[in-house]
Amino acid sequence: MKKIIVLLPGDGIGPEVTSAAATVLKECAREFHHQFEFQDHPVGGAAIDLTGTPLPNATIDACRAADAVFLGAVGGPKWDSIPVGKRPESGLLALRQGMGLYVNVRPVKLLEPLRGMSPLKPERLGDLDIEIVRELSGGIYFGERGHATEGGKERSWDTESYSTPEIERIAKFAFTRVESRSRRLCSVDKANVLASSQLWRKTVAAMSSQYPDVKLEHMYVDNAAMQLTLKPSQFDVMLTTNMFGDILSDAAAALVGSIGLVPSASFGTGAPLFEPIHGSAPTLAGKDSANPIGSILSATMMLRDAFGLGLEADWVEQSVVRVLAAGYRTPDLAAPGSKPIGSNGFMEILHAEMQRTLEHAERYGWGV
Ligand code: NAD
Ligand code: IPM
Ligand code: MN
Repeated sequence: MKKIIVLLPGDGIGPEVTSAAATVLKECAREFHHQFEFQDHPVGGAAIDLTGTPLPNATIDACRAADAVFLGAVGGPKWDSIPVGKRPESGLLALRQGMGLYVNVRPVKLLEPLRGMSPLKPERLGDLDIEIVRELSGGIYFGERGHATEGGKERSWDTESYSTPEIERIAKFAFTRVESRSRRLCSVDKANVLASSQLWRKTVAAMSSQYPDVKLEHMYVDNAAMQLTLKPSQFDVMLTTNMFGDILSDAAAALVGSIGLVPSASFGTGAPLFEPIHGSAPTLAGKDSANPIGSILSATMMLRDAFGLGLEADWVEQSVVRVLAAGYRTPDLAAPGSKPIGSNGFMEILHAEMQRTLEHAERYGWGV
Protein backbone atom coordinates (compact mmCIF):
# COMPACT_ATOMS: atom_id res chain seq x y z
CA MET A 1 0.00 0.00 0.00
CA LYS A 2 1.31 3.45 -0.98
CA LYS A 3 0.17 6.50 1.00
CA ILE A 4 1.16 10.13 1.42
CA ILE A 5 0.94 11.25 5.04
CA VAL A 6 1.30 14.92 5.97
CA LEU A 7 2.72 15.52 9.46
CA LEU A 8 1.87 18.78 11.22
CA PRO A 9 3.92 18.70 14.46
CA GLY A 10 2.90 22.17 15.68
CA ASP A 11 3.94 23.50 19.10
CA GLY A 12 4.89 22.48 22.65
CA ILE A 13 4.79 18.68 22.97
CA GLY A 14 3.25 18.51 19.45
CA PRO A 15 6.57 17.65 17.73
CA GLU A 16 7.40 15.00 20.37
CA VAL A 17 4.09 13.16 20.11
CA THR A 18 4.08 13.49 16.30
CA SER A 19 7.48 11.86 16.19
CA ALA A 20 6.09 8.96 18.30
CA ALA A 21 3.18 8.50 15.86
CA ALA A 22 5.51 8.66 12.85
CA THR A 23 7.86 6.08 14.40
CA VAL A 24 4.99 3.64 14.79
CA LEU A 25 3.69 4.28 11.25
CA LYS A 26 7.20 3.75 9.84
CA GLU A 27 7.52 0.49 11.75
CA CYS A 28 4.20 -0.67 10.26
CA ALA A 29 5.36 0.26 6.78
CA ARG A 30 8.64 -1.64 7.25
CA GLU A 31 7.17 -4.82 8.71
CA PHE A 32 4.08 -5.02 6.49
CA HIS A 33 5.71 -3.76 3.27
CA HIS A 34 3.72 -0.57 2.79
CA GLN A 35 5.11 2.62 1.35
CA PHE A 36 4.28 5.63 3.48
CA GLU A 37 5.71 8.92 2.28
CA PHE A 38 5.89 11.57 5.02
CA GLN A 39 5.78 15.32 4.42
CA ASP A 40 6.33 17.76 7.30
CA HIS A 41 4.59 21.13 7.27
CA PRO A 42 4.36 23.98 9.79
CA VAL A 43 1.12 24.88 11.55
CA GLY A 44 0.15 26.95 14.61
CA GLY A 45 2.75 28.98 16.49
CA ALA A 46 5.60 27.32 14.59
CA ALA A 47 4.03 28.53 11.33
CA ILE A 48 3.48 32.05 12.74
CA ASP A 49 7.18 32.22 13.61
CA LEU A 50 8.22 31.00 10.17
CA THR A 51 5.70 32.68 7.88
CA GLY A 52 3.61 35.12 9.93
CA THR A 53 0.44 33.05 9.60
CA PRO A 54 -0.77 29.96 11.57
CA LEU A 55 -1.92 28.11 8.44
CA PRO A 56 0.31 28.82 5.42
CA ASN A 57 -1.20 28.06 2.00
CA ALA A 58 1.50 25.46 1.34
CA THR A 59 0.41 23.58 4.48
CA ILE A 60 -3.28 23.38 3.63
CA ASP A 61 -2.52 22.59 -0.03
CA ALA A 62 -0.34 19.66 1.08
CA CYS A 63 -3.05 18.45 3.48
CA ARG A 64 -5.67 18.52 0.74
CA ALA A 65 -3.41 16.48 -1.55
CA ALA A 66 -2.51 13.89 1.14
CA ASP A 67 -4.08 10.51 1.86
CA ALA A 68 -4.12 11.36 5.58
CA VAL A 69 -2.93 14.10 7.90
CA PHE A 70 -1.50 13.81 11.41
CA LEU A 71 -1.45 16.81 13.74
CA GLY A 72 0.40 17.06 17.07
CA ALA A 73 -0.87 20.15 18.91
CA VAL A 74 -0.81 23.91 18.55
CA GLY A 75 -0.62 26.92 20.85
CA GLY A 76 1.40 28.11 23.81
CA PRO A 77 2.22 31.11 26.01
CA LYS A 78 4.47 32.64 23.35
CA TRP A 79 1.43 33.35 21.17
CA ASP A 80 -1.24 33.89 23.85
CA SER A 81 -1.48 37.66 23.36
CA ILE A 82 -2.32 37.31 19.66
CA PRO A 83 -6.02 38.02 19.00
CA VAL A 84 -8.57 35.36 18.04
CA GLY A 85 -8.42 34.82 14.30
CA LYS A 86 -4.63 35.09 14.06
CA ARG A 87 -3.41 32.84 16.86
CA PRO A 88 -2.12 29.25 16.55
CA GLU A 89 -5.52 27.77 17.50
CA SER A 90 -7.15 29.74 14.66
CA GLY A 91 -4.82 27.93 12.27
CA LEU A 92 -6.16 24.59 13.49
CA LEU A 93 -9.76 25.75 13.12
CA ALA A 94 -9.06 27.07 9.60
CA LEU A 95 -7.45 23.74 8.76
CA ARG A 96 -10.47 21.74 9.99
CA GLN A 97 -12.90 23.94 8.11
CA GLY A 98 -10.69 24.29 5.05
CA MET A 99 -10.40 20.49 4.75
CA GLY A 100 -14.17 20.09 5.17
CA LEU A 101 -13.71 18.03 8.37
CA TYR A 102 -17.11 18.10 10.03
CA VAL A 103 -16.80 14.83 12.00
CA ASN A 104 -14.51 14.35 14.98
CA VAL A 105 -14.57 10.96 16.69
CA ARG A 106 -13.00 10.79 20.13
CA PRO A 107 -12.91 7.22 21.51
CA VAL A 108 -12.49 7.18 25.27
CA LYS A 109 -11.76 3.60 26.25
CA LEU A 110 -10.38 2.27 29.49
CA LEU A 111 -7.12 0.40 28.95
CA GLU A 112 -7.44 -2.43 31.45
CA PRO A 113 -3.95 -2.10 33.04
CA LEU A 114 -4.86 1.51 33.90
CA ARG A 115 -8.10 0.74 35.75
CA GLY A 116 -6.48 1.85 39.01
CA MET A 117 -5.56 5.24 37.49
CA SER A 118 -9.18 6.32 37.08
CA PRO A 119 -10.44 8.83 39.63
CA LEU A 120 -13.66 6.75 39.73
CA LYS A 121 -14.12 3.76 41.99
CA PRO A 122 -14.09 0.48 39.99
CA GLU A 123 -17.79 -0.16 40.61
CA ARG A 124 -18.67 3.24 39.14
CA LEU A 125 -16.20 3.00 36.27
CA GLY A 126 -17.51 -0.27 34.82
CA ASP A 127 -16.23 -1.08 31.33
CA LEU A 128 -15.77 2.41 30.03
CA ASP A 129 -15.77 2.38 26.23
CA ILE A 130 -17.45 5.37 24.64
CA GLU A 131 -17.10 7.39 21.49
CA ILE A 132 -17.81 11.10 21.44
CA VAL A 133 -18.89 12.19 17.97
CA ARG A 134 -18.22 15.91 17.92
CA GLU A 135 -19.42 18.25 15.17
CA LEU A 136 -16.22 19.96 14.02
CA SER A 137 -16.88 22.61 11.41
CA GLY A 138 -19.77 24.63 12.78
CA GLY A 139 -21.40 25.98 15.91
CA ILE A 140 -20.01 28.74 18.10
CA TYR A 141 -16.45 28.11 16.92
CA PHE A 142 -17.36 29.40 13.47
CA GLY A 143 -20.39 31.65 14.11
CA GLU A 144 -20.40 35.40 13.83
CA ARG A 145 -18.24 37.05 16.47
CA GLY A 146 -17.52 40.62 17.28
CA HIS A 147 -16.30 43.27 19.64
CA ALA A 148 -17.68 46.73 20.39
CA THR A 149 -17.30 49.52 22.89
CA GLU A 150 -20.57 50.82 24.31
CA GLY A 151 -20.51 53.82 26.66
CA GLY A 152 -16.85 53.20 27.37
CA LYS A 153 -17.45 49.54 28.25
CA GLU A 154 -16.35 46.65 26.04
CA ARG A 155 -18.63 43.89 24.77
CA SER A 156 -17.66 40.78 22.80
CA TRP A 157 -19.86 38.07 21.37
CA ASP A 158 -19.77 34.69 19.65
CA THR A 159 -22.73 33.05 17.98
CA GLU A 160 -23.87 29.44 18.18
CA SER A 161 -25.68 28.56 14.97
CA TYR A 162 -26.50 25.27 13.24
CA SER A 163 -28.43 24.57 10.04
CA THR A 164 -30.48 21.41 9.43
CA PRO A 165 -28.00 20.02 6.83
CA GLU A 166 -25.08 20.60 9.22
CA ILE A 167 -26.89 18.64 11.94
CA GLU A 168 -28.04 15.91 9.56
CA ARG A 169 -24.59 15.11 8.20
CA ILE A 170 -22.97 14.71 11.63
CA ALA A 171 -25.99 12.81 13.00
CA LYS A 172 -25.90 10.45 10.01
CA PHE A 173 -22.28 9.64 10.86
CA ALA A 174 -23.17 8.97 14.51
CA PHE A 175 -26.22 6.79 13.70
CA THR A 176 -24.09 4.73 11.31
CA ARG A 177 -21.18 4.50 13.74
CA VAL A 178 -23.37 3.24 16.60
CA GLU A 179 -24.87 0.51 14.39
CA SER A 180 -21.55 -1.35 14.57
CA ARG A 181 -21.38 -0.87 18.36
CA SER A 182 -24.06 -1.40 21.01
CA ARG A 183 -26.72 0.70 19.19
CA ARG A 184 -27.21 3.23 21.99
CA LEU A 185 -26.91 6.79 20.80
CA CYS A 186 -27.10 9.71 23.21
CA SER A 187 -27.51 13.13 21.60
CA VAL A 188 -26.33 15.90 23.92
CA ASP A 189 -27.66 19.45 23.66
CA LYS A 190 -29.05 22.37 25.65
CA ALA A 191 -32.48 22.39 24.04
CA ASN A 192 -34.12 23.77 27.19
CA VAL A 193 -32.32 27.08 26.59
CA LEU A 194 -30.77 27.39 23.11
CA ALA A 195 -32.66 27.73 19.82
CA SER A 196 -29.77 26.05 17.97
CA SER A 197 -30.10 23.09 20.33
CA GLN A 198 -33.85 22.88 19.73
CA LEU A 199 -33.17 22.51 16.01
CA TRP A 200 -30.42 20.00 16.85
CA ARG A 201 -32.79 17.84 18.92
CA LYS A 202 -35.67 18.08 16.42
CA THR A 203 -33.39 17.13 13.51
CA VAL A 204 -31.73 14.19 15.29
CA ALA A 205 -35.12 12.91 16.53
CA ALA A 206 -36.61 13.08 13.03
CA MET A 207 -33.75 10.95 11.67
CA SER A 208 -34.16 8.15 14.18
CA SER A 209 -36.97 6.47 12.18
CA GLN A 210 -34.36 5.70 9.50
CA TYR A 211 -32.37 3.76 12.11
CA PRO A 212 -34.97 1.57 13.86
CA ASP A 213 -32.30 -0.60 15.52
CA VAL A 214 -30.66 2.36 17.26
CA LYS A 215 -31.95 3.39 20.68
CA LEU A 216 -31.79 7.17 20.66
CA GLU A 217 -31.76 9.20 23.84
CA HIS A 218 -31.50 12.98 24.27
CA MET A 219 -29.72 14.53 27.24
CA TYR A 220 -29.02 18.10 28.34
CA VAL A 221 -25.31 18.82 28.45
CA ASP A 222 -25.22 19.73 32.15
CA ASN A 223 -26.79 16.39 33.05
CA ALA A 224 -24.51 14.59 30.53
CA ALA A 225 -21.43 16.01 32.28
CA MET A 226 -22.76 14.70 35.59
CA GLN A 227 -23.82 11.30 34.20
CA LEU A 228 -20.35 10.85 32.65
CA THR A 229 -18.87 11.12 36.12
CA LEU A 230 -21.59 9.17 37.94
CA LYS A 231 -22.01 6.22 35.58
CA PRO A 232 -20.01 6.52 32.35
CA SER A 233 -20.75 2.95 31.24
CA GLN A 234 -24.37 3.98 30.46
CA PHE A 235 -23.00 5.67 27.30
CA ASP A 236 -21.97 4.13 24.02
CA VAL A 237 -21.84 6.85 21.33
CA MET A 238 -22.45 10.46 22.36
CA LEU A 239 -23.34 12.87 19.56
CA THR A 240 -22.87 16.55 20.23
CA THR A 241 -21.94 20.03 19.04
CA ASN A 242 -18.50 21.44 18.50
CA MET A 243 -18.13 23.16 21.89
CA PHE A 244 -19.95 20.60 24.02
CA GLY A 245 -17.84 17.85 22.41
CA ASP A 246 -14.64 19.74 23.21
CA ILE A 247 -15.56 20.03 26.88
CA LEU A 248 -17.09 16.58 27.41
CA SER A 249 -14.14 14.82 25.77
CA ASP A 250 -11.60 16.37 28.16
CA ALA A 251 -13.86 15.42 31.09
CA ALA A 252 -14.22 11.86 29.77
CA ALA A 253 -10.44 11.61 29.26
CA ALA A 254 -9.89 12.14 32.98
CA LEU A 255 -11.96 9.01 33.69
CA VAL A 256 -9.50 6.74 31.85
CA GLY A 257 -6.49 8.17 33.68
CA SER A 258 -4.96 10.91 31.51
CA ILE A 259 -5.79 13.19 28.63
CA GLY A 260 -2.52 11.98 27.15
CA LEU A 261 -4.22 8.67 26.29
CA VAL A 262 -7.08 9.80 24.06
CA PRO A 263 -6.88 9.84 20.24
CA SER A 264 -9.19 11.32 17.64
CA ALA A 265 -10.07 11.03 13.96
CA SER A 266 -11.70 13.69 11.83
CA PHE A 267 -13.53 12.99 8.60
CA GLY A 268 -15.29 15.09 6.00
CA THR A 269 -15.23 15.79 2.33
CA GLY A 270 -11.50 15.18 1.73
CA ALA A 271 -8.50 13.60 3.44
CA PRO A 272 -9.02 12.57 7.07
CA LEU A 273 -7.02 14.08 9.92
CA PHE A 274 -5.81 12.35 13.09
CA GLU A 275 -4.76 14.10 16.29
CA PRO A 276 -4.61 13.37 20.01
CA ILE A 277 -7.25 15.38 21.89
CA HIS A 278 -4.75 17.02 24.24
CA GLY A 279 -3.06 20.35 23.65
CA SER A 280 0.53 21.48 23.47
CA ALA A 281 1.10 21.04 27.27
CA PRO A 282 3.75 23.80 27.30
CA THR A 283 5.11 22.91 30.74
CA LEU A 284 6.01 19.40 29.53
CA ALA A 285 7.62 20.40 26.23
CA GLY A 286 11.23 19.26 25.84
CA LYS A 287 11.17 17.33 29.13
CA ASP A 288 10.71 13.80 27.78
CA SER A 289 7.50 13.69 29.84
CA ALA A 290 4.62 13.73 27.36
CA ASN A 291 2.50 10.62 27.17
CA PRO A 292 2.72 9.51 23.52
CA ILE A 293 -0.19 7.01 23.72
CA GLY A 294 -2.97 9.37 22.53
CA SER A 295 -0.82 10.15 19.55
CA ILE A 296 0.07 6.51 18.86
CA LEU A 297 -3.62 5.55 19.06
CA SER A 298 -4.42 8.39 16.64
CA ALA A 299 -1.92 6.75 14.28
CA THR A 300 -3.69 3.39 14.71
CA MET A 301 -6.99 5.10 13.90
CA MET A 302 -5.29 6.31 10.70
CA LEU A 303 -4.18 2.77 9.91
CA ARG A 304 -7.62 1.27 10.56
CA ASP A 305 -10.09 4.00 9.59
CA ALA A 306 -8.23 5.71 6.73
CA PHE A 307 -6.23 2.84 5.22
CA GLY A 308 -8.24 -0.24 6.27
CA LEU A 309 -5.12 -1.75 7.92
CA GLY A 310 -6.82 -3.43 10.87
CA LEU A 311 -4.14 -6.03 11.54
CA GLU A 312 -1.40 -3.39 11.72
CA ALA A 313 -3.55 -1.27 14.06
CA ASP A 314 -4.27 -4.29 16.30
CA TRP A 315 -0.57 -5.08 16.42
CA VAL A 316 0.32 -1.62 17.72
CA GLU A 317 -2.63 -1.35 20.13
CA GLN A 318 -2.04 -4.75 21.69
CA SER A 319 1.63 -3.92 22.12
CA VAL A 320 0.76 -0.62 23.88
CA VAL A 321 -1.51 -2.48 26.30
CA ARG A 322 1.21 -5.05 27.00
CA VAL A 323 3.76 -2.32 27.78
CA LEU A 324 1.27 -0.83 30.25
CA ALA A 325 0.49 -4.26 31.68
CA ALA A 326 4.23 -4.68 32.34
CA GLY A 327 3.96 -1.61 34.59
CA TYR A 328 5.70 1.07 32.50
CA ARG A 329 4.24 4.53 33.07
CA THR A 330 4.96 8.02 31.76
CA PRO A 331 4.84 10.71 34.52
CA ASP A 332 1.12 11.53 34.01
CA LEU A 333 0.33 7.91 34.96
CA ALA A 334 2.88 7.52 37.74
CA ALA A 335 1.63 5.37 40.61
CA PRO A 336 3.24 3.53 43.51
CA GLY A 337 4.73 0.26 42.31
CA SER A 338 4.80 1.24 38.64
CA LYS A 339 7.95 1.59 36.53
CA PRO A 340 8.47 5.30 35.79
CA ILE A 341 9.66 6.02 32.29
CA GLY A 342 10.03 9.00 29.94
CA SER A 343 8.44 9.33 26.51
CA ASN A 344 11.59 8.10 24.75
CA GLY A 345 11.95 5.13 27.07
CA PHE A 346 8.31 4.26 26.44
CA MET A 347 8.95 4.27 22.68
CA GLU A 348 11.99 1.98 23.07
CA ILE A 349 10.04 -0.52 25.16
CA LEU A 350 7.09 -0.34 22.77
CA HIS A 351 9.42 -1.07 19.85
CA ALA A 352 10.79 -4.15 21.63
CA GLU A 353 7.26 -5.30 22.50
CA MET A 354 6.09 -4.85 18.89
CA GLN A 355 9.03 -6.95 17.68
CA ARG A 356 8.24 -9.66 20.23
CA THR A 357 4.58 -9.74 19.14
CA LEU A 358 5.64 -10.00 15.51
CA GLU A 359 8.01 -12.90 16.13
CA HIS A 360 5.31 -14.66 18.12
CA ALA A 361 2.75 -14.09 15.35
CA GLU A 362 5.15 -15.30 12.67
CA ARG A 363 5.70 -18.50 14.63
CA TYR A 364 2.20 -19.25 15.92
CA GLY A 365 -0.18 -16.98 13.95
CA TRP A 366 -1.97 -13.78 14.89
CA GLY A 367 -4.19 -13.73 17.95
CA VAL A 368 -2.76 -16.99 19.34
P1 NAD B 1 -3.39 20.70 27.40
O1 NAD B 1 -4.17 19.55 26.87
O2 NAD B 1 -2.18 21.10 26.64
O3 NAD B 1 -2.94 20.37 28.90
C1 NAD B 1 -3.88 20.09 29.94
C2 NAD B 1 -3.20 19.28 31.03
O4 NAD B 1 -2.96 17.96 30.56
C3 NAD B 1 -1.85 19.82 31.46
O5 NAD B 1 -1.66 19.53 32.82
C4 NAD B 1 -0.86 19.00 30.62
O6 NAD B 1 0.42 18.90 31.19
C5 NAD B 1 -1.57 17.65 30.55
N1 NAD B 1 -1.27 16.93 29.30
C6 NAD B 1 -1.72 17.24 28.06
N2 NAD B 1 -1.24 16.38 27.16
C7 NAD B 1 -0.48 15.50 27.83
C8 NAD B 1 0.29 14.36 27.45
N3 NAD B 1 0.37 13.94 26.17
N4 NAD B 1 0.96 13.69 28.42
C9 NAD B 1 0.88 14.07 29.70
N5 NAD B 1 0.16 15.12 30.13
C10 NAD B 1 -0.51 15.83 29.20
O7 NAD B 1 -4.42 21.91 27.54
P2 NAD B 1 -4.20 23.44 28.04
O8 NAD B 1 -3.16 23.49 29.09
O9 NAD B 1 -5.54 23.94 28.31
O10 NAD B 1 -3.66 24.18 26.73
C11 NAD B 1 -2.29 24.36 26.43
C12 NAD B 1 -2.17 24.89 25.01
O11 NAD B 1 -2.61 23.91 24.08
C13 NAD B 1 -3.06 26.12 24.73
O12 NAD B 1 -2.35 26.98 23.89
C14 NAD B 1 -4.26 25.55 24.03
O13 NAD B 1 -4.92 26.46 23.21
C15 NAD B 1 -3.62 24.45 23.23
N6 NAD B 1 -4.51 23.34 22.86
C16 NAD B 1 -4.31 22.80 21.63
C17 NAD B 1 -5.01 21.69 21.23
C18 NAD B 1 -4.76 21.10 19.88
O14 NAD B 1 -3.81 21.48 19.25
N7 NAD B 1 -5.56 20.18 19.41
C19 NAD B 1 -5.92 21.10 22.13
C20 NAD B 1 -6.10 21.67 23.39
C21 NAD B 1 -5.37 22.79 23.76
C1 IPM C 1 -9.20 20.44 20.79
C2 IPM C 1 -8.71 21.83 21.13
C3 IPM C 1 -9.12 22.81 20.04
C4 IPM C 1 -10.65 22.86 20.04
C5 IPM C 1 -8.53 24.22 20.13
C6 IPM C 1 -7.05 24.22 20.31
C7 IPM C 1 -8.88 25.01 18.90
O1 IPM C 1 -9.16 22.21 22.39
O2 IPM C 1 -8.88 19.95 19.70
O3 IPM C 1 -9.86 19.82 21.62
O4 IPM C 1 -11.24 23.58 20.86
O5 IPM C 1 -11.23 22.19 19.19
MN1 MN D 1 -10.06 20.59 23.51
